[in-house]
Amino acid sequence: MPQLPPYTYSGPVDCTIPPDRTQLKGKSVIVTGGANGMGETTVRAFAAEGAYVTIADLNEQRGQELARELSPNAQFVKCNITNWDEQVHMFEAAIANSPSKSCDIVIANAGISRAFGDTLWPLDDPNAPPVKPTLSIIDVNVYGTLYTWKLAVHYFRKQPDSEERDRCFIITGSMVAWIDSPANWQYTVSKYGLRGLMRTARRNSWEQGIRINYVAPCYIKSAIRSPEYEAQLISKGVEFAPPEDVATCMMKISTDRTINGHSFMITPKSCCKEGYMDVDKDDHVDDVYFKRNQERQLRIIEDRWVEGWEKDRTAEGAAKN
Ligand SMILES: NC(=O)c1ccc[n+]([C@@H]2O[C@H](COP(=O)([O-])OP(=O)(O)OC[C@H]3O[C@@H](n4cnc5c(N)ncnc54)[C@H](O)[C@@H]3O)[C@@H](O)[C@H]2O)c1
Repeated sequence: MPQLPPYTYSGPVDCTIPPDRTQLKGKSVIVTGGANGMGETTVRAFAAEGAYVTIADLNEQRGQELARELSPNAQFVKCNITNWDEQVHMFEAAIANSPSKSCDIVIANAGISRAFGDTLWPLDDPNAPPVKPTLSIIDVNVYGTLYTWKLAVHYFRKQPDSEERDRCFIITGSMVAWIDSPANWQYTVSKYGLRGLMRTARRNSWEQGIRINYVAPCYIKSAIRSPEYEAQLISKGVEFAPPEDVATCMMKISTDRTINGHSFMITPKSCCKEGYMDVDKDDHVDDVYFKRNQERQLRIIEDRWVEGWEKDRTAEGAAKN
């Protein structure tokens, strides 16, 4: 496989060019949270193009049904992404099930929202003892996705760096990583955090032939929010985008190996006719202060993401572990 170049800003990706779907034939793909919502739509779209998709989800019934329907191009693995061992099993199963015995594309899509309860938000009785929050949204969206990333790097590096294979990691984020979403505390932290992962990892991922990108859906109909809340949003003028546009965006990234280090937003068709576009707000093109500091940061941090990188200390002076 041709070496990936270091990440540099080269302008937004042209999303008017449709994905070359033929590239997906025979690819081994993992979709976490693939039993429902936009994950399910993505699974269907990739399987239809001849990819071998591993649906990893908590929802056994829906996952099994979907895998049966799409067989032999899909299999289901029950997996809670907060559980490291279950994710190891998910990767091993994906590799074992694919004809190429590989794992080429990982879509870290599983996530929960404040519909599951955000325990940071409630105001507790000031005269009672403080209530320790359970940070379950952070557990799933951040811990779970970081496990997926760590394992993807491990398994990507096991397979040959060849033309036929890929090392493509995609995060399902959210537009709340750019706009303020009141009362949505843990969720916003989680999706900003994952955007941060993409921005820092893109600076080194190319050294291992790995591509990392971020997809930020707007409002998409799914089981993530209740039907009543969905109806309320529509009555307030919210436009929903179809999950098929998420799947097409995932395909665009998966089939174009020049795409690394970008964020895409899924938009209603009234905003852009393709239904997705490059956010183009992850680089400081016109901002003198941030641009200068970004350039300096790249100069002073010398860490390389290659085996045998032997420096005793990081640029910040911390001992390497
Ligand atoms: N629907 C939207 O409007 C919207 C907007 C922005 C971002 N997103 C993001 O898109 C992703 C998919 O959401 P969706 O709207 O399709 O939701 P969904 O609820 O329809 O699907 C999510 C799937 O993830 C699974 N899941 C949840 N926790 C899991 C865990 N710990 N381990 C494994 N699987 C788990 C669920 O069982 C479900 O099948 C999420 O990351 C979400 O934050 C959704």
